[in-house]
Amino acid sequence: MPLIEWDASLETGIGMIDAQHRILVDLINKLDASVQEGSPAKAVELVLVDLKKYTVYHFSAEETLMVRSGYAGFEAHRDQHQEFMEEVDGFEIDSLTGAPDVAQDVLEFLKDWLTNHIRVSDKDFAAAQSA
Ligand SMILES: [Fe+2]
Repeated sequence: MPLIEWDASLETGIGMIDAQHRILVDLINKLDASVQEGSPAKAVELVLVDLKKYTVYHFSAEETLMVRSGYAGFEAHRDQHQEFMEEVDGFEIDSLTGAPDVAQDVLEFLKDWLTNHIRVSDKDFAAAQSA
């Protein structure tokens, strides 16, 4: 079973953002699968690198949309993205491939952060678009 199951509660209704969120969910699930399978550190690291790269790309796409639309919550939203990136940049590959409990905490963090961020913050932006 994937760590994050996509469901309607994760849809913002903005096509481009939803498509990118699905890719992020897939990458987190891939990272989880790689860790659970006990893949070698190098293999886990490659998935983590992909996840980081795609996250940077996605955040920047989202922020561009926010600036273009004059979204009032832009700065607070960008701060959330930055804090998340700092958190993720701080992950050491040892934390995913060393102690299983720590790996689980890291994966739960990714899952909780992304799903909460989408359901609350990204949806707030989407609602402002349709208002
Ligand atoms: Fe966001």
